[in-house]
Amino acid sequence: MVLSDQPGPTEWGESRHGVGPWEVEHPDQPADDPRFDPELLAEGDRRNVVDAYRYWRREAIVSDIDTRRHELHIAIENFEHDANIGTVVRTANAFAVDTVHIVGRKRWNRRGAMVTDRYQHLMHHPSTAELMQWAREENIVVVAIDNTPGSVPLETAELPKRCLLLFGQEGPGVSEDASDLAAMTCSIAQFGSTRSINVGVAAGIAMHAWIRQHADLSKAW
Ligand SMILES: C[S@@+](CC[C@H](N)C(=O)[O-])C[C@H]1O[C@@H](n2cnc3c(N)ncnc32)[C@H](O)[C@@H]1O
Repeated sequence: MVLSDQPGPTEWGESRHGVGPWEVEHPDQPADDPRFDPELLAEGDRRNVVDAYRYWRREAIVSDIDTRRHELHIAIENFEHDANIGTVVRTANAFAVDTVHIVGRKRWNRRGAMVTDRYQHLMHHPSTAELMQWAREENIVVVAIDNTPGSVPLETAELPKRCLLLFGQEGPGVSEDASDLAAMTCSIAQFGSTRSINVGVAAGIAMHAWIRQHADLSKAW
């Protein structure tokens, strides 16, 4: 499939609530694409997926995204059940991040993910030290994201292409282990009174900073 041949960018266009059964939507066309899911063809497709993936099986969607995933990994520390992880996963999916790494507790609150985790590679690491070791073995540079003293402004930092951006939790921020072992820590410039911004928002800003530096925009929807 050639991506640029696809119709609209997202499901938020005209067909906000998805599409009905294939024979209602496309009465004159055969539904003979092997990527199609018979159940979705029969009942319609109301999932949170771009229009190009309507009626596709989940595995077919994941395989297609796999052909253009970025060398960007995301990690979030989850020692206290951070409710923002779902938001981070959803944004990581939007930017075709390679893998989202959950550090600490294995269980995380999926609500904000809006089911996007089904199309995203996820990996669990019991501790930050184990995540760091994994990154070393994979030759991936870890950049912690937090507004701690001595951090480098994200706005002017050159992010490595093969990169893992690591985020902390709402209360404590990035753990000491993480900031000690990361190649650098980058902060997002703030100008108001709040000590920090929401980690889901910070993750979106940092991922987009990487996208601006390294992504091939001709491959975006
Ligand atoms: C709500 S913050 C809490 C920690 C913060 N260091 C503090 O002093 O309150 C949770 C996480 O969001 C991210 N974050 C929030 N604001 C940020 C900023 N201005 N720059 C970089 N990261 C930020 C970091 O990953 C941080 O660990």
